Amino acid sequence: MKEKIEETLHTEALHVAIVLAAGKGSRMNSDIPKQYLLLKGKPLVCHCLDTLEASPCIDQVVLVVGRGEVDYVRSQIIEAYSYQKVSAVLEGGAERYHSVSHALEYLDGRIPEASYVYIHDGARPYLEEALLERLYRTVRKEGACIAAVPVKDTIKQVDKNGRIKKTPERSSLWMAQTPQVFPYVLIWEAYRRMLAEGKTEGITDDAQVVERMGASSVKIVEGSYRNQKITTPEDIDP
Ligand code: CTP
Ligand code: MG
Repeated sequence: MKEKIEETLHTEALHVAIVLAAGKGSRMNSDIPKQYLLLKGKPLVCHCLDTLEASPCIDQVVLVVGRGEVDYVRSQIIEAYSYQKVSAVLEGGAERYHSVSHALEYLDGRIPEASYVYIHDGARPYLEEALLERLYRTVRKEGACIAAVPVKDTIKQVDKNGRIKKTPERSSLWMAQTPQVFPYVLIWEAYRRMLAEGKTEGITDDAQVVERMGASSVKIVEGSYRNQKITTPEDIDP
């Protein structure tokens, strides 16, 4: 009987967050990587970790950090703030998609195949539980989905001389955010194919990997304008 229960637990789908904090933050122009800058007295990356730690939607967190930062993050972030759900701290790679693929590769064989991954930019501190719940419900019912918000300004497509070529219709334009949520098997297969075929140019988010590989359609889930990414100095108000 005990064996049977253990087997059931092992095959149950897990909801795993991958938090990306391996970027250099070059647009932030700061001496330390932006994910460690203080926001309301805490390192920036801690804000989303707090939400994930408290969320009933999330079972585990895999944190991806820069080269040589693993020990620092283990002691100054994971132990210092007592995060219980962080199951691994991994080194990322040169581009965001390398960092994601390191985490997906790490999870291979370590989580049940039916699991889901929630890929989140560690530079988005204002993650809210309500958004995680909307994504949780959608991915189980409809498959791959991402947080996004409608564009507020009119968007112009311009040529290299700065002259407007086109004004895409605003009502069909959304700004992609994170979390971006996928069945684990789907996103890992799409990433493996993209890397094998070398189709990595211009990849800036995860939904794009699925779109480019024609793997599945991806649904939009209403995000939040507050869920912005800290990118340039004016985005942060300590
Ligand atoms: N990221 C990552 N690995 C990389 C590049 C980015 O894990 N090689 C992460 C960042 O830490 C961030 C998220 O992906 O949480 C979104 O990337 P972005 O805002 O571009 O951050 P940076 O790459 O750090 O900033 P910049 O592009 O200005 O250098
Ligand atoms: Mg970047």
